[in-house]
Amino acid sequence: MSLPIFDRISRELDERRALHLLRAIPEPPGTSPKRIDLATNSYLALHDNAAVTAEAGRLAAGVAYGNLASRLIRNTSPLARELEGELAQWKNAGAALLFNSGYAANIGILQAIATRSTGIFADRLNHASIIDGIRLSGAKLARYRHNDMADLARLLAASAAPEKIIVTDTVFSMDGDRAPLADIVECAKKHNACVMVDEAHATGILGANGSGLAEESGVAAAIDIRMGTLSKAVAGLGGFFAGSALLRDYLVNHSRSLIYSTGLPASVIAFDLAAVRYLRANPQLGATLLARAASFRDKLHGLGFDTLASTTQIVPCLVSDDAEALALSAFLARRGIDAPAVRPPTVPPHTARIRFSLTLAFTPDQETAVIAALADWKSGHG
Ligand SMILES: Cc1ncc(COP(=O)(O)O)c(C=O)c1O
Repeated sequence: MSLPIFDRISRELDERRALHLLRAIPEPPGTSPKRIDLATNSYLALHDNAAVTAEAGRLAAGVAYGNLASRLIRNTSPLARELEGELAQWKNAGAALLFNSGYAANIGILQAIATRSTGIFADRLNHASIIDGIRLSGAKLARYRHNDMADLARLLAASAAPEKIIVTDTVFSMDGDRAPLADIVECAKKHNACVMVDEAHATGILGANGSGLAEESGVAAAIDIRMGTLSKAVAGLGGFFAGSALLRDYLVNHSRSLIYSTGLPASVIAFDLAAVRYLRANPQLGATLLARAASFRDKLHGLGFDTLASTTQIVPCLVSDDAEALALSAFLARRGIDAPAVRPPTVPPHTARIRFSLTLAFTPDQETAVIAALADWKSGHG
């Protein structure tokens, strides 16, 4: 029987397909060591690091099952608290709180701390999980133009909200550029606003201790809420809050994604903990990766590609046209290179791109192969 709801759903999928915007979950790429993987966020290749894997196995002590309840009901293993202690030290924060993912952290933090009378000022290119958290909170959302401090100041000045939060990604996930954190902190002071940053793509990469852009910019102490993920450079799973003990207590009492969801399995936390300890002991890895990314960007520019404002390991290669972005990604895949096409609505209209996610596993030979493939594409497509 045809129901109106399924008719609409089917129609919408057809429309997306016709516009080359249909999303699909790809098949696993297989384990061929010959493939060049520029599609993961395991920036420091810790998923393939023997020391981290061995330490994770030791910490997990053979426990493969889950946490068996929400963390507020029961902590099956002491590892979650240990990881929170490690994260708080790394971030030089009063406290840290573990969530089940970066997504869960963003929605849990924003839903908990903001109310209908809070004004939230968000960069237009912030991650979707930030927007979803703001929606859940019911707060009034004002989006400022990407990294545009004059626009942010204008919106703050025009707002009569009694409480204000500025929220920004520190490294933007699809553009690979950095937020001007020192300017944001200054603007926040002028307008009595609290600052929240999402360090998902900066954690492990930026700053002398690898703790993120807040550290690199010298403003960590002035940022009230530092959120991060354990799913990118850490190569595990989980999200976290780093900030004051007061805010941690509040989140434990109000974050619905924390309270009403089963905690992470000990085996996952064991990997996270082993990886974070490894990163803290090897803080130079991020700088090595950034140097490789700079060299790769130079070569893309040499071929005439636009990498937007990227200054990090995330290197977009602008294609603009949605169908052409898909075609380039498929062309690269045939040459053994995995690099996704990213299209609207994940990025703004007419800015479809290949998102090259550079990692320490990317060798000079692989770089040569990727640049050769892109040169061939250019010569065939003008
Ligand atoms: C900026 C940003 N924040 C949050 C998330 C969500 O993190 P996770 O994948 O750990 O849920 C992501 C990942 O997609 C992200 O890019």
